Amino acid sequence: MRAPPDDAYSIRPAGLADAEALCAFKRQIFGETEFLLQGLEDFDDQVEVERDIIGRFHHQSNSVLVLAVAADGQVIGLCSIVGGHLWRTRHVGTMSVGVVRAWWRRGVGKRLMAQTIRWAQENPLLEKLALQVHATNTAARAMYAGLGFVEEGLLRGEAKLGAGVDDLVPMGMPLPHRGEPMRHALVRNWD
Ligand SMILES: CC(C)(COP(=O)(O)OP(=O)(O)OC[C@H]1O[C@@H](n2cnc3c(N)ncnc32)[C@H](O)[C@@H]1OP(=O)(O)O)[C@@H](O)C(=O)NCCC(=O)NCCS
Repeated sequence: MRAPPDDAYSIRPAGLADAEALCAFKRQIFGETEFLLQGLEDFDDQVEVERDIIGRFHHQSNSVLVLAVAADGQVIGLCSIVGGHLWRTRHVGTMSVGVVRAWWRRGVGKRLMAQTIRWAQENPLLEKLALQVHATNTAARAMYAGLGFVEEGLLRGEAKLGAGVDDLVPMGMPLPHRGEPMRHALVRNWD
């Protein structure tokens, strides 16, 4: 499928005003894929909850929540980095990504990831990006490998999938350590 024109959607950090659209996005994507570790079973479908989640990202210097938003305001994709909370792990950011099915294979996932990785490369705390992907999720594994993530092992039977279980593949990407003093607002260069 052809990539959509640049103005079909924008990629930007989530603001508190996105809570309702984010709620609708999660309701949709959790029903469309089993390849996310969170599913409908664990989803608290309330705008207030999403507002709290967005607010928490704003208060963690090594974390970011990035959205792909269509021209009509619908959230069509999400990419997050959750930085470690402990001194000994705060240099590691765990990534997660998802795109609504109607927009698959149109370059949204790759663009979301690439721009979020760029944010991480400028973050003075983060030294490594990490994620876990279902072994059978060939689409995501191909995307991560294309972006420079390297497989780091195999976690056997770590995630439920349908009536059974699947292995998880941990993947990682080192980031250049800039060693700069911590800055609070690192959100820029989104387009
Ligand atoms: C994985 C996911 C985020 C990809 O998003 P997307 O917008 O469809 O991906 P893109 O169109 O940007 O494609 C990026 C790369 O992914 C790979 N890819 C995507 N879909 C693929 C498919 N069906 N088969 C094989 N490779 C695929 C390709 O390497 C592609 O690069 P290319 O276009 O240069 O070949 C999306 O399929 C999704 O949300 N899936 C459900 C949730 C999920 O699996 N999240 C990851 C959990 S770890």
